[in-house]
Amino acid sequence: MTGAISNSTKSMDAIVALCRRRGFIFQSSEIYGGIGGFWDYGPLGVLLKNNIRDRWWRDMVLAPPIGPDGKELDIVGLDCSIISHPKVWEASGHVAGFADPMQDCRHCRARHRADQVWPLLYEESEWVDSLLDVLEERPIAAAALRKWVQQKGKKLAPGLLAVRDPSTIEAWIARFNEHPPADRRVERLLELLASGGGELLIPCPVCGGPLTEPRQFNLMFQTYVGALVDEESKTYLRPETAQGMFYNFRNVIDTTRVKVPFGLAQIGKGFRNEITPRNFIFRSREFEMMEVEFFVQPSEANDWYQFWRQSRYDWWCKLGLAGENLRLRDHEKDELAHYARDNGGCADVEYAFPFSGEKGFSELEGIAYRSNFDLTQHQKTSGVGLEYFDQERNERYLPHVIEPAAGLTRGLLAVICEAYTPDESRPSKVFMKFHPSLAPIKAGIFPLVNKDGMPEIAEKLYHELRDRFVTEFDVKQSIGKRYARMDEAGTPYCFTIDGQTLQDQTVTVRYRDTGQQARIAIDTVGAFLAERII
Ligand code: GAP
Repeated sequence: MTGAISNSTKSMDAIVALCRRRGFIFQSSEIYGGIGGFWDYGPLGVLLKNNIRDRWWRDMVLAPPIGPDGKELDIVGLDCSIISHPKVWEASGHVAGFADPMQDCRHCRARHRADQVWPLLYEESEWVDSLLDVLEERPIAAAALRKWVQQKGKKLAPGLLAVRDPSTIEAWIARFNEHPPADRRVERLLELLASGGGELLIPCPVCGGPLTEPRQFNLMFQTYVGALVDEESKTYLRPETAQGMFYNFRNVIDTTRVKVPFGLAQIGKGFRNEITPRNFIFRSREFEMMEVEFFVQPSEANDWYQFWRQSRYDWWCKLGLAGENLRLRDHEKDELAHYARDNGGCADVEYAFPFSGEKGFSELEGIAYRSNFDLTQHQKTSGVGLEYFDQERNERYLPHVIEPAAGLTRGLLAVICEAYTPDESRPSKVFMKFHPSLAPIKAGIFPLVNKDGMPEIAEKLYHELRDRFVTEFDVKQSIGKRYARMDEAGTPYCFTIDGQTLQDQTVTVRYRDTGQQARIAIDTVGAFLAERII
């Protein structure tokens, strides 16, 4: 997929529509109007998601990469419970710190992440969009503003003070026109409209109402274990899979032959009560992650961090995300998490989603040097010793950790955005150019017409292949329509049994990416697929 069409020209709405139409992704509880931040994966979506998941598991656990020391890495898997002892989340710092500063609207009660308010006002707020034309004039025409307030403002920004009490406009507009501030003029104008010239307040992107000061809001979903609903029985749905690997560190050391350096790997669901779930499945409240905790001797941590940083970027390239849409970005010092030490750091693999806008890229995976923060915390909180005895060095220490943490569902979205390829020349107008190894369906098997012995031959071929490859057998509709369906599903090869098959036992193979066709012997179809789908 290298050299793919730039994602900035792809329409997110069109991608979401295709995902719905072809059964990749549905809104959860759709018949009840949906529920924000939750998604269901349909027949094609679950195949695609499992293919990415299995590829990660193979490349991390079953056949891990070669490390900087030239040896194959030692990584073993875990599958921990979603609900764990509440002390886990105290030790990890999530109870105290897993919070975003939030601002609530006093008028419509919408809650926004503080760092998202201005981007939302500029990029998504309908009322700001409609008002900006009026505010562009200098000096601001009071009459035009009053007209906006009485007409569009009433509908779009019922919470804005200038709309609720138009008499407030006069006082500040004269002052503003006399002494316009040198910079941040639009911000100032919007704040004046929201507060009538008194203490300046940021308006709500939804209704224009005044926002509260930022307040901390914990992102963990709470639940209660057992019959009683009280503080004692309160715990949380895990917001990350990482902690299960830390609190099982001792168990793995005691029950397997692993030696530092080694990794624990886990794929599973994470839950975060995100305030602004948005951009389709990009930021969801329930999502899947693929995480490795790689335990190393402290003095070697920096080398391992550099290794993982590059290795994870290369992995996403292998999946077909490459070139201009993918980048590796080191965190600035002020972005670093509390556990990232001076000699380590954090880097993100970022992808240019169509909605990434001016920033251009959004996070796909984070690679963090966590020092021994988590093991120290769990050792302290549980009272159980977690130190490791390194026989070769004759040394006892708490290993340091490099953590590559990737989003599985976010990765799926990146793969979908990358594959989405508009093509006006096709009946479907679009095709999904998945890497063949990730494609949900590997081959379509079609009789040209549903008679003359063709369906029987096609069905026989389908039964020969289906144990090894996800294959679809389809006899309905014209052959053009069947190809169009397979183009939207991203099926890389279609095999058609036609009149000539009856004479010389060859079939047509149609290549998804070019639409070109060739003939091959029917008994070589399995080998043809095996060669191309690795
Ligand atoms: N243990 C480290 C950790 O949880 P994170 O950056 O918060 O790190 C790891 O999450 C990855 O999980 C992110 O890079 C992203 O791909 C994915 N992710 C995080 N929050 C998400 C959400 N609300 N919806 C979908 N994916 C999310």
